[in-house]
Amino acid sequence: PSTARLYHERVMDHYSNPRNVGSLNKNDKDVGTGIVGAPACGDVMKLQIMVDDSGLISDVKFKTFGCGSAIASSSFMTERVKGLTLDEAGAIKNTEIARELSLPPVKLHCSMLAEDAIRSAIRNYKSKAQERGSSFTGSI
Ligand code: FES
Ligand code: FES
Repeated sequence: PSTARLYHERVMDHYSNPRNVGSLNKNDKDVGTGIVGAPACGDVMKLQIMVDDSGLISDVKFKTFGCGSAIASSSFMTERVKGLTLDEAGAIKNTEIARELSLPPVKLHCSMLAEDAIRSAIRNYKSKAQERGSSFTGSI
């Protein structure tokens, strides 16, 4: 199929049927929250992770106020990071999302939002863990 049709099918599936929409309790000690904006268009993405005792991401939720590609990118990211370590999740590049969803170049910044959001959520989780001086097990 053409790139345009792949774009349509994969993005539209995540767009019309986004996975893991919602919120986690940001005050929960096991939850990290990332909120980022795209200067290019003013869209905003919130992505939250829950980390279990073994340091794996056990739950993920997002809310995105933005274009279809941003929603699809965040939906894709939530599925992608579930079950990963923080280091693995933080290493995911927007170019992978863009490739998987066949985003056109003009929509690259939409996938960048998802990369920024997961990193921001990880940072938030780690800073909370450090603040309470707990025996945080992942690498910083
Ligand atoms: Fe605003 Fe993307 S430019 S939704
Ligand atoms: Fe701005 Fe998609 S996030 S156009």
